[in-house]
Amino acid sequence: MRCDQTAAWQSLHHRAEAFAGFDLRTAFAADVQRVDGLSQTVPHVFADLSKNHVDAGTEALLQELARQTGLAAHRDAMFRGEHINATEDRAVMHWLLRQPEGSLSGDLAAPLKLVHDTLRPMLAYAEQVRADAQITDVVNIGIGGSDLGPQMAVLALQDFVIPGKRFHFVSNVDGHELATVLQGLKAENTLFLIASKTFTTIETMTNARSALGWFQSQGGRDVARHFAALTTNVAAAAEMGITTTFGFWDWVGGRYSVWSAIGLPVAIAIGGQGFKDLLAGAHEMDQHFQTAPMERNLPVRLGLLDVWYRNFLNFTSRSIAPYHSALRRVPAYLQQLEMESNGKRVDRNGLALPYGTSPVLWGEPGTNGQHAYFQMLHQGTDVVPLEFIAVKKPTHSLKEHHELLLANVIAQAQALMLGQFDDGGHKHFSGNRPSTFLLLDELTPASLGALIALQEHRVFVSGSVWGINSFDQWGVELGKVLAKDIHARIVSGDTSGLDASTAALLQRIR
Ligand code: F6P
Repeated sequence: MRCDQTAAWQSLHHRAEAFAGFDLRTAFAADVQRVDGLSQTVPHVFADLSKNHVDAGTEALLQELARQTGLAAHRDAMFRGEHINATEDRAVMHWLLRQPEGSLSGDLAAPLKLVHDTLRPMLAYAEQVRADAQITDVVNIGIGGSDLGPQMAVLALQDFVIPGKRFHFVSNVDGHELATVLQGLKAENTLFLIASKTFTTIETMTNARSALGWFQSQGGRDVARHFAALTTNVAAAAEMGITTTFGFWDWVGGRYSVWSAIGLPVAIAIGGQGFKDLLAGAHEMDQHFQTAPMERNLPVRLGLLDVWYRNFLNFTSRSIAPYHSALRRVPAYLQQLEMESNGKRVDRNGLALPYGTSPVLWGEPGTNGQHAYFQMLHQGTDVVPLEFIAVKKPTHSLKEHHELLLANVIAQAQALMLGQFDDGGHKHFSGNRPSTFLLLDELTPASLGALIALQEHRVFVSGSVWGINSFDQWGVELGKVLAKDIHARIVSGDTSGLDASTAALLQRIR
Protein backbone atom coordinates (compact mmCIF):
# COMPACT_ATOMS: atom_id res chain seq x y z
CA MET A 1 0.00 0.00 0.00
CA ARG A 2 1.27 3.51 -0.78
CA CYS A 3 2.71 5.13 2.32
CA ASP A 4 0.28 8.06 2.50
CA GLN A 5 -2.71 5.69 2.45
CA THR A 6 -1.59 3.67 5.46
CA ALA A 7 -2.91 4.05 8.99
CA ALA A 8 0.68 4.47 10.21
CA TRP A 9 1.08 7.57 7.99
CA GLN A 10 -1.91 9.20 9.70
CA SER A 11 -0.61 8.23 13.13
CA LEU A 12 2.76 9.72 12.29
CA HIS A 13 1.08 12.98 11.30
CA HIS A 14 -0.62 13.11 14.70
CA ARG A 15 2.66 12.28 16.37
CA ALA A 16 4.41 15.07 14.44
CA GLU A 17 1.88 17.58 15.79
CA ALA A 18 2.72 16.44 19.31
CA PHE A 19 6.41 16.67 18.38
CA ALA A 20 6.21 20.41 17.76
CA GLY A 21 7.38 20.91 21.33
CA PHE A 22 10.00 18.15 21.26
CA ASP A 23 13.24 19.15 22.90
CA LEU A 24 16.37 17.01 22.85
CA ARG A 25 17.55 18.34 26.20
CA THR A 26 14.28 17.39 27.86
CA ALA A 27 14.28 14.03 26.10
CA PHE A 28 17.72 13.18 27.52
CA ALA A 29 16.71 14.36 30.99
CA ALA A 30 13.54 12.28 30.89
CA ASP A 31 15.11 9.06 29.64
CA VAL A 32 18.44 7.87 31.00
CA GLN A 33 18.35 4.97 28.54
CA ARG A 34 18.05 7.25 25.52
CA VAL A 35 21.60 6.74 24.24
CA ASP A 36 21.39 2.96 24.61
CA GLY A 37 18.06 2.75 22.86
CA LEU A 38 19.02 5.00 20.00
CA SER A 39 22.55 3.83 19.31
CA GLN A 40 23.92 0.59 17.99
CA THR A 41 27.00 -1.13 16.66
CA VAL A 42 26.81 -2.86 13.29
CA PRO A 43 29.66 -4.26 11.20
CA HIS A 44 32.47 -1.64 11.24
CA VAL A 45 30.16 1.24 12.23
CA PHE A 46 28.92 2.62 15.53
CA ALA A 47 25.84 4.80 15.07
CA ASP A 48 24.42 7.22 17.60
CA LEU A 49 20.95 8.39 16.62
CA SER A 50 20.12 9.77 20.04
CA LYS A 51 20.58 13.43 19.11
CA ASN A 52 17.74 13.16 16.61
CA HIS A 53 14.16 14.38 16.94
CA VAL A 54 12.88 10.89 17.47
CA ASP A 55 11.94 8.63 20.34
CA ALA A 56 11.01 5.00 20.87
CA GLY A 57 7.33 5.63 20.23
CA THR A 58 8.02 7.39 16.92
CA GLU A 59 10.43 4.66 15.86
CA ALA A 60 7.72 2.09 16.61
CA LEU A 61 5.25 3.96 14.39
CA LEU A 62 7.87 4.23 11.63
CA GLN A 63 8.40 0.48 11.89
CA GLU A 64 4.64 0.09 11.51
CA LEU A 65 4.84 2.25 8.38
CA ALA A 66 7.60 -0.04 7.07
CA ARG A 67 5.35 -3.07 7.68
CA GLN A 68 2.33 -1.47 6.07
CA THR A 69 4.30 -0.47 2.96
CA GLY A 70 5.89 -3.91 2.59
CA LEU A 71 9.51 -2.87 3.09
CA ALA A 72 10.79 -6.33 4.09
CA ALA A 73 9.13 -7.99 1.08
CA HIS A 74 10.59 -5.35 -1.24
CA ARG A 75 14.06 -5.83 0.24
CA ASP A 76 13.76 -9.59 -0.13
CA ALA A 77 12.64 -9.18 -3.75
CA MET A 78 15.82 -7.21 -4.44
CA PHE A 79 17.94 -9.96 -2.86
CA ARG A 80 16.07 -12.60 -4.90
CA GLY A 81 17.04 -10.79 -8.09
CA GLU A 82 13.51 -9.80 -9.08
CA HIS A 83 13.14 -6.99 -11.60
CA ILE A 84 12.31 -4.32 -9.04
CA ASN A 85 13.67 -1.66 -11.42
CA ALA A 86 10.46 -1.96 -13.41
CA THR A 87 10.82 1.09 -15.65
CA GLU A 88 14.00 -0.41 -17.08
CA ASP A 89 12.85 -4.02 -16.54
CA ARG A 90 16.02 -4.84 -14.63
CA ALA A 91 17.07 -6.62 -11.49
CA VAL A 92 18.94 -4.61 -8.86
CA MET A 93 21.92 -6.70 -7.82
CA HIS A 94 24.90 -4.52 -6.96
CA TRP A 95 24.92 -6.50 -3.69
CA LEU A 96 25.71 -9.67 -5.70
CA LEU A 97 29.08 -8.13 -6.60
CA ARG A 98 30.14 -8.51 -2.97
CA GLN A 99 28.61 -11.92 -2.35
CA PRO A 100 31.25 -14.61 -1.59
CA GLU A 101 31.96 -17.08 -4.35
CA GLY A 102 29.68 -20.12 -4.41
CA SER A 103 27.50 -18.85 -1.60
CA LEU A 104 24.19 -18.88 -3.47
CA SER A 105 22.18 -21.63 -5.09
CA GLY A 106 19.23 -21.60 -7.48
CA ASP A 107 18.75 -18.86 -10.06
CA LEU A 108 21.44 -16.64 -8.57
CA ALA A 109 24.22 -19.24 -8.67
CA ALA A 110 24.98 -18.58 -12.35
CA PRO A 111 25.19 -14.76 -12.15
CA LEU A 112 27.29 -15.09 -9.00
CA LYS A 113 29.70 -17.39 -10.84
CA LEU A 114 29.87 -14.82 -13.62
CA VAL A 115 30.66 -12.11 -11.07
CA HIS A 116 33.64 -14.05 -9.76
CA ASP A 117 34.76 -15.19 -13.19
CA THR A 118 34.92 -11.48 -14.08
CA LEU A 119 36.41 -10.30 -10.80
CA ARG A 120 39.37 -12.70 -11.00
CA PRO A 121 40.86 -11.40 -14.28
CA MET A 122 40.08 -7.83 -13.24
CA LEU A 123 42.07 -8.20 -10.03
CA ALA A 124 44.85 -10.05 -11.88
CA TYR A 125 45.01 -7.10 -14.28
CA ALA A 126 45.12 -4.70 -11.33
CA GLU A 127 48.07 -6.61 -9.90
CA GLN A 128 49.80 -6.57 -13.29
CA VAL A 129 49.44 -2.78 -13.49
CA ARG A 130 50.68 -2.42 -9.91
CA ALA A 131 53.78 -4.42 -10.77
CA ASP A 132 54.38 -2.44 -13.96
CA ALA A 133 56.86 0.27 -12.93
CA GLN A 134 56.54 1.92 -16.33
CA ILE A 135 52.94 2.89 -15.59
CA THR A 136 53.17 5.80 -13.18
CA ASP A 137 49.85 7.52 -13.94
CA VAL A 138 46.37 6.03 -14.06
CA VAL A 139 43.71 8.31 -15.55
CA ASN A 140 40.08 7.35 -14.96
CA ILE A 141 37.78 8.94 -17.53
CA GLY A 142 34.14 8.64 -16.47
CA ILE A 143 31.32 10.68 -14.96
CA GLY A 144 28.57 10.23 -12.36
CA GLY A 145 28.79 6.76 -10.89
CA SER A 146 31.70 5.99 -13.20
CA ASP A 147 33.68 8.72 -11.45
CA LEU A 148 32.33 9.51 -8.00
CA GLY A 149 32.58 5.98 -6.54
CA PRO A 150 36.16 5.19 -7.60
CA GLN A 151 37.33 8.73 -6.93
CA MET A 152 35.76 8.81 -3.47
CA ALA A 153 37.22 5.39 -2.62
CA VAL A 154 40.76 6.04 -3.91
CA LEU A 155 40.85 9.27 -1.88
CA ALA A 156 39.35 7.65 1.20
CA LEU A 157 41.88 4.82 1.09
CA GLN A 158 44.89 7.02 0.37
CA ASP A 159 46.86 5.31 3.13
CA PHE A 160 46.56 2.01 1.29
CA VAL A 161 47.47 3.38 -2.15
CA ILE A 162 50.53 1.91 -3.83
CA PRO A 163 53.46 4.33 -3.75
CA GLY A 164 54.87 5.47 -7.09
CA LYS A 165 51.58 5.72 -8.95
CA ARG A 166 49.35 8.74 -9.31
CA PHE A 167 45.61 8.53 -9.85
CA HIS A 168 43.72 11.16 -11.82
CA PHE A 169 39.99 11.49 -12.39
CA VAL A 170 38.65 13.31 -15.42
CA SER A 171 34.88 13.61 -15.53
CA ASN A 172 33.78 16.96 -16.89
CA VAL A 173 33.43 17.61 -20.61
CA ASP A 174 35.08 20.94 -19.78
CA GLY A 175 38.36 20.61 -21.66
CA HIS A 176 40.17 22.48 -18.90
CA GLU A 177 39.98 19.32 -16.83
CA LEU A 178 41.47 16.89 -19.36
CA ALA A 179 44.01 19.42 -20.66
CA THR A 180 45.31 20.09 -17.14
CA VAL A 181 45.74 16.38 -16.40
CA LEU A 182 47.38 15.63 -19.76
CA GLN A 183 49.88 18.46 -19.31
CA GLY A 184 51.77 16.53 -16.65
CA LEU A 185 51.71 13.11 -18.38
CA LYS A 186 53.83 11.03 -20.72
CA ALA A 187 52.09 8.60 -23.05
CA GLU A 188 54.42 5.68 -22.27
CA ASN A 189 53.80 6.04 -18.53
CA THR A 190 50.03 6.44 -18.62
CA LEU A 191 47.13 4.03 -18.40
CA PHE A 192 43.71 5.42 -19.34
CA LEU A 193 40.65 3.68 -17.93
CA ILE A 194 37.53 4.60 -19.88
CA ALA A 195 34.73 4.00 -17.40
CA SER A 196 31.19 4.10 -18.73
CA LYS A 197 28.40 1.66 -18.08
CA THR A 198 26.68 2.55 -21.34
CA PHE A 199 29.71 3.73 -23.32
CA THR A 200 27.49 6.40 -24.84
CA THR A 201 27.81 9.22 -22.28
CA ILE A 202 28.84 12.27 -24.29
CA GLU A 203 31.26 13.68 -21.70
CA THR A 204 33.13 10.39 -21.36
CA MET A 205 33.14 9.61 -25.07
CA THR A 206 34.48 13.10 -25.85
CA ASN A 207 37.19 12.87 -23.19
CA ALA A 208 38.09 9.32 -24.31
CA ARG A 209 38.44 10.34 -27.96
CA SER A 210 40.59 13.33 -26.99
CA ALA A 211 42.74 11.15 -24.72
CA LEU A 212 43.22 8.67 -27.57
CA GLY A 213 44.12 11.51 -29.92
CA TRP A 214 46.61 12.89 -27.40
CA PHE A 215 48.15 9.43 -26.84
CA GLN A 216 48.69 8.93 -30.57
CA SER A 217 49.96 12.48 -31.07
CA GLN A 218 52.57 11.74 -28.39
CA GLY A 219 53.81 8.75 -30.37
CA GLY A 220 51.81 6.19 -28.37
CA ARG A 221 50.99 3.07 -30.38
CA ASP A 222 49.98 0.28 -28.04
CA VAL A 223 46.36 1.17 -27.32
CA ALA A 224 45.70 -2.31 -25.86
CA ARG A 225 48.34 -1.66 -23.19
CA HIS A 226 47.51 1.95 -22.42
CA PHE A 227 43.71 1.97 -22.63
CA ALA A 228 41.14 -0.24 -20.91
CA ALA A 229 37.37 0.09 -21.01
CA LEU A 230 35.16 -0.62 -18.00
CA THR A 231 31.68 -1.09 -19.40
CA THR A 232 28.61 -3.20 -20.06
CA ASN A 233 28.92 -2.23 -23.73
CA VAL A 234 32.11 -3.96 -24.85
CA ALA A 235 31.08 -3.65 -28.52
CA ALA A 236 31.07 0.16 -28.37
CA ALA A 237 34.52 0.13 -26.72
CA ALA A 238 35.83 -2.10 -29.51
CA GLU A 239 34.44 0.36 -32.07
CA MET A 240 36.60 3.03 -30.46
CA GLY A 241 39.59 0.72 -30.83
CA ILE A 242 39.79 -0.30 -27.16
CA THR A 243 40.20 -4.04 -26.89
CA THR A 244 41.22 -4.41 -23.25
CA THR A 245 37.87 -4.53 -21.53
CA PHE A 246 36.31 -5.42 -18.18
CA GLY A 247 32.58 -5.94 -18.21
CA PHE A 248 29.65 -5.79 -15.86
CA TRP A 249 25.89 -6.10 -16.17
CA ASP A 250 22.76 -4.01 -16.64
CA TRP A 251 21.61 -4.99 -13.14
CA VAL A 252 24.31 -2.76 -11.64
CA GLY A 253 23.12 0.86 -11.46
CA GLY A 254 25.77 3.47 -12.30
CA ARG A 255 25.69 4.97 -8.80
CA TYR A 256 25.98 1.47 -7.32
CA SER A 257 28.85 0.35 -9.56
CA VAL A 258 32.04 0.96 -7.55
CA TRP A 259 31.93 -2.75 -6.63
CA SER A 260 32.10 -3.80 -10.29
CA ALA A 261 34.72 -3.28 -13.02
CA ILE A 262 34.14 0.44 -12.41
CA GLY A 263 36.16 -0.15 -9.24
CA LEU A 264 39.29 -1.06 -11.23
CA PRO A 265 41.13 2.18 -10.29
CA VAL A 266 40.46 1.29 -6.65
CA ALA A 267 41.81 -2.24 -7.18
CA ILE A 268 44.93 -0.87 -8.86
CA ALA A 269 45.37 1.65 -6.06
CA ILE A 270 44.89 -0.66 -3.06
CA GLY A 271 45.52 -4.07 -4.60
CA GLY A 272 43.37 -7.12 -5.20
CA GLN A 273 43.22 -8.09 -1.52
CA GLY A 274 42.27 -4.53 -0.54
CA PHE A 275 39.47 -4.58 -3.11
CA LYS A 276 38.25 -7.93 -1.77
CA ASP A 277 38.24 -6.42 1.74
CA LEU A 278 36.14 -3.51 0.46
CA LEU A 279 33.65 -6.02 -0.98
CA ALA A 280 33.72 -8.09 2.22
CA GLY A 281 32.93 -5.06 4.41
CA ALA A 282 29.99 -4.20 2.16
CA HIS A 283 28.81 -7.81 2.26
CA GLU A 284 28.77 -7.74 6.07
CA MET A 285 26.43 -4.76 5.84
CA ASP A 286 24.28 -6.60 3.25
CA GLN A 287 23.89 -9.44 5.72
CA HIS A 288 23.01 -7.05 8.52
CA PHE A 289 20.37 -5.43 6.29
CA GLN A 290 18.93 -8.80 5.32
CA THR A 291 18.92 -10.50 8.68
CA ALA A 292 18.89 -8.04 11.60
CA PRO A 293 15.48 -7.53 13.23
CA MET A 294 13.88 -4.46 11.69
CA GLU A 295 13.94 -2.58 15.02
CA ARG A 296 17.74 -3.01 15.26
CA ASN A 297 18.46 -2.82 11.55
CA LEU A 298 20.56 0.30 11.03
CA PRO A 299 19.81 1.01 7.34
CA VAL A 300 16.13 0.57 8.18
CA ARG A 301 16.31 2.92 11.16
CA LEU A 302 18.23 5.56 9.20
CA GLY A 303 15.97 5.31 6.14
CA LEU A 304 12.84 5.59 8.31
CA LEU A 305 14.33 8.56 10.15
CA ASP A 306 14.87 10.15 6.72
CA VAL A 307 11.16 9.65 5.94
CA TRP A 308 10.15 11.08 9.34
CA TYR A 309 12.27 14.16 8.77
CA ARG A 310 11.23 14.72 5.17
CA ASN A 311 7.50 14.09 5.39
CA PHE A 312 6.53 14.81 8.97
CA LEU A 313 9.00 17.33 10.40
CA ASN A 314 9.48 18.95 6.97
CA PHE A 315 13.28 19.07 7.01
CA THR A 316 14.18 19.28 3.34
CA SER A 317 17.92 18.83 3.45
CA ARG A 318 20.66 16.87 5.19
CA SER A 319 24.22 18.02 5.63
CA ILE A 320 27.00 15.42 5.53
CA ALA A 321 30.01 16.29 7.67
CA PRO A 322 32.87 13.81 7.37
CA TYR A 323 35.51 14.67 9.95
CA HIS A 324 38.31 13.06 7.97
CA SER A 325 39.87 14.81 5.02
CA ALA A 326 40.24 11.53 3.10
CA LEU A 327 36.43 11.31 3.09
CA ARG A 328 36.13 14.66 1.32
CA ARG A 329 34.34 13.26 -1.74
CA VAL A 330 31.83 11.32 0.36
CA PRO A 331 29.26 14.17 0.34
CA ALA A 332 29.39 14.34 -3.48
CA TYR A 333 29.16 10.56 -3.70
CA LEU A 334 26.14 10.48 -1.39
CA GLN A 335 24.53 13.32 -3.31
CA GLN A 336 24.34 11.16 -6.42
CA LEU A 337 23.43 8.05 -4.45
CA GLU A 338 20.46 9.65 -2.73
CA MET A 339 19.34 12.41 -5.07
CA GLU A 340 19.56 10.40 -8.30
CA SER A 341 17.94 7.42 -6.61
CA ASN A 342 15.14 9.12 -4.74
CA GLY A 343 14.68 12.42 -6.58
CA LYS A 344 11.41 11.17 -8.05
CA ARG A 345 7.97 12.78 -8.36
CA VAL A 346 5.90 9.73 -9.30
CA ASP A 347 5.28 6.38 -7.64
CA ARG A 348 6.14 3.02 -9.13
CA ASN A 349 2.95 3.18 -11.21
CA GLY A 350 3.83 6.58 -12.63
CA LEU A 351 1.28 8.48 -10.52
CA ALA A 352 2.25 11.92 -9.17
CA LEU A 353 3.09 11.90 -5.47
CA PRO A 354 1.45 14.27 -3.01
CA TYR A 355 4.41 14.06 -0.60
CA GLY A 356 8.11 14.94 -0.71
CA THR A 357 10.86 12.49 -1.61
CA SER A 358 14.66 12.98 -1.72
CA PRO A 359 16.07 15.67 0.54
CA VAL A 360 18.92 17.85 -0.68
CA LEU A 361 22.26 16.41 0.41
CA TRP A 362 25.31 18.57 0.73
CA GLY A 363 28.41 19.04 2.83
CA GLU A 364 32.12 19.50 3.23
CA PRO A 365 34.67 17.91 5.51
CA GLY A 366 34.99 19.15 9.07
CA THR A 367 36.41 21.24 10.48
CA ASN A 368 36.34 23.33 7.27
CA GLY A 369 32.55 23.51 7.17
CA GLN A 370 32.51 24.97 10.68
CA HIS A 371 34.25 28.09 9.39
CA ALA A 372 31.95 28.45 6.43
CA TYR A 373 28.28 27.47 6.70
CA PHE A 374 27.93 26.09 10.24
CA GLN A 375 26.76 29.57 11.29
CA MET A 376 23.53 28.85 9.43
CA LEU A 377 23.28 25.37 10.96
CA HIS A 378 23.55 26.79 14.48
CA GLN A 379 21.58 30.00 14.16
CA GLY A 380 19.79 30.01 10.82
CA THR A 381 16.02 29.91 10.53
CA ASP A 382 15.90 26.43 8.95
CA VAL A 383 16.67 23.24 10.80
CA VAL A 384 19.11 21.06 8.83
CA PRO A 385 19.83 17.61 10.29
CA LEU A 386 23.52 16.79 10.18
CA GLU A 387 25.24 13.48 9.67
CA PHE A 388 28.67 13.44 11.25
CA ILE A 389 31.13 10.77 10.15
CA ALA A 390 34.27 10.36 12.26
CA VAL A 391 37.13 7.88 12.48
CA LYS A 392 38.58 6.95 15.86
CA LYS A 393 42.13 5.97 14.89
CA PRO A 394 44.24 8.20 12.67
CA THR A 395 46.97 6.85 10.42
CA HIS A 396 49.37 9.70 11.15
CA SER A 397 51.32 10.44 14.29
CA LEU A 398 50.13 14.05 14.77
CA LYS A 399 48.30 13.17 17.97
CA GLU A 400 47.19 16.67 18.86
CA HIS A 401 45.65 17.21 15.42
CA HIS A 402 43.48 14.14 15.74
CA GLU A 403 42.44 14.97 19.29
CA LEU A 404 41.40 18.42 18.11
CA LEU A 405 39.54 17.00 15.13
CA LEU A 406 37.56 14.58 17.29
CA ALA A 407 37.01 17.23 19.95
CA ASN A 408 35.50 19.44 17.28
CA VAL A 409 33.14 16.85 15.85
CA ILE A 410 31.83 15.92 19.29
CA ALA A 411 31.59 19.59 20.31
CA GLN A 412 29.63 20.51 17.17
CA ALA A 413 27.06 17.78 17.79
CA GLN A 414 26.86 18.94 21.40
CA ALA A 415 26.58 22.64 20.55
CA LEU A 416 23.87 22.00 17.97
CA MET A 417 21.88 20.15 20.60
CA LEU A 418 22.54 22.20 23.74
CA GLY A 419 22.53 25.70 22.31
CA GLN A 420 23.28 28.67 24.52
CA PHE A 421 21.03 31.19 26.19
CA ASP A 422 21.62 34.89 25.66
CA ASP A 423 18.93 37.53 26.10
CA GLY A 424 20.76 39.89 23.81
CA GLY A 425 19.60 37.80 20.85
CA HIS A 426 22.66 37.73 18.65
CA LYS A 427 24.56 35.31 20.84
CA HIS A 428 21.57 33.14 21.50
CA PHE A 429 21.70 29.60 20.10
CA SER A 430 18.32 27.90 20.29
CA GLY A 431 19.93 24.43 20.26
CA ASN A 432 17.72 21.35 19.81
CA ARG A 433 19.25 20.88 16.34
CA PRO A 434 19.35 17.24 15.31
CA SER A 435 22.36 15.18 14.27
CA THR A 436 23.40 11.59 13.67
CA PHE A 437 26.89 10.42 14.56
CA LEU A 438 28.56 7.60 12.62
CA LEU A 439 31.87 6.41 13.99
CA LEU A 440 34.35 4.04 12.37
CA ASP A 441 37.16 2.55 14.43
CA GLU A 442 39.52 2.82 11.50
CA LEU A 443 39.23 3.87 7.90
CA THR A 444 40.06 0.67 6.01
CA PRO A 445 38.79 -0.92 2.79
CA ALA A 446 36.41 -3.06 4.87
CA SER A 447 35.02 -0.22 6.96
CA LEU A 448 34.60 1.99 3.90
CA GLY A 449 32.75 -0.85 2.17
CA ALA A 450 30.42 -1.21 5.14
CA LEU A 451 29.82 2.55 5.39
CA ILE A 452 28.92 2.86 1.71
CA ALA A 453 26.68 -0.22 1.71
CA LEU A 454 24.93 1.20 4.78
CA GLN A 455 24.18 4.35 2.81
CA GLU A 456 22.98 2.38 -0.22
CA HIS A 457 20.54 0.43 1.90
CA ARG A 458 19.19 3.43 3.82
CA VAL A 459 18.42 5.05 0.45
CA PHE A 460 16.65 1.82 -0.54
CA VAL A 461 14.57 1.98 2.64
CA SER A 462 13.28 5.54 2.19
CA GLY A 463 12.71 4.96 -1.54
CA SER A 464 10.80 1.79 -0.79
CA VAL A 465 8.55 3.47 1.79
CA TRP A 466 7.90 6.32 -0.66
CA GLY A 467 6.87 3.73 -3.24
CA ILE A 468 9.22 5.05 -5.90
CA ASN A 469 11.69 3.34 -8.22
CA SER A 470 15.07 4.25 -6.73
CA PHE A 471 16.96 2.61 -9.58
CA ASP A 472 16.13 4.58 -12.70
CA GLN A 473 17.17 8.15 -13.56
CA TRP A 474 14.95 9.40 -16.39
CA GLY A 475 15.30 12.94 -15.04
CA VAL A 476 18.78 13.30 -16.52
CA GLU A 477 17.71 12.50 -20.09
CA LEU A 478 16.01 15.72 -21.22
CA GLY A 479 19.10 17.85 -20.63
CA LYS A 480 21.17 15.38 -22.66
CA VAL A 481 18.78 15.60 -25.64
CA LEU A 482 18.62 19.38 -25.52
CA ALA A 483 22.42 19.69 -25.24
CA LYS A 484 22.75 17.75 -28.50
CA ASP A 485 20.37 20.16 -30.22
CA ILE A 486 22.10 23.24 -28.78
CA HIS A 487 25.50 21.88 -29.75
CA ALA A 488 24.37 21.62 -33.38
CA ARG A 489 23.05 25.19 -33.17
CA ILE A 490 26.32 26.49 -31.68
CA VAL A 491 28.03 25.09 -34.74
CA SER A 492 25.42 26.33 -37.26
CA GLY A 493 24.20 29.53 -35.56
CA ASP A 494 20.57 28.52 -36.15
CA THR A 495 18.34 29.97 -33.41
CA SER A 496 15.00 29.37 -35.14
CA GLY A 497 12.23 28.04 -32.91
CA LEU A 498 14.16 28.70 -29.69
CA ASP A 499 12.72 30.63 -26.76
CA ALA A 500 14.01 34.23 -26.59
CA SER A 501 16.30 33.70 -23.60
CA THR A 502 17.98 30.59 -25.02
CA ALA A 503 18.38 32.25 -28.42
CA ALA A 504 19.97 35.34 -26.85
CA LEU A 505 22.41 33.25 -24.81
CA LEU A 506 23.37 31.26 -27.86
CA GLN A 507 24.02 34.43 -29.88
CA ARG A 508 26.11 35.81 -27.05
CA ILE A 509 28.45 32.82 -26.80
CA ARG A 510 28.96 32.37 -30.54
O1 F6P B 1 23.30 10.76 -16.64
C1 F6P B 1 23.24 10.08 -15.45
C2 F6P B 1 24.07 8.83 -15.53
O2 F6P B 1 23.42 7.89 -16.31
C3 F6P B 1 24.35 8.25 -14.15
O3 F6P B 1 23.31 7.49 -13.67
C4 F6P B 1 25.60 7.51 -14.41
O4 F6P B 1 26.30 7.16 -13.24
C5 F6P B 1 26.35 8.47 -15.29
O5 F6P B 1 25.34 9.08 -16.08
C6 F6P B 1 27.39 7.89 -16.16
O6 F6P B 1 26.87 6.92 -17.02
P1 F6P B 1 27.82 5.93 -17.80
O7 F6P B 1 28.56 5.13 -16.77
O8 F6P B 1 26.92 5.08 -18.64
O9 F6P B 1 28.77 6.73 -18.63
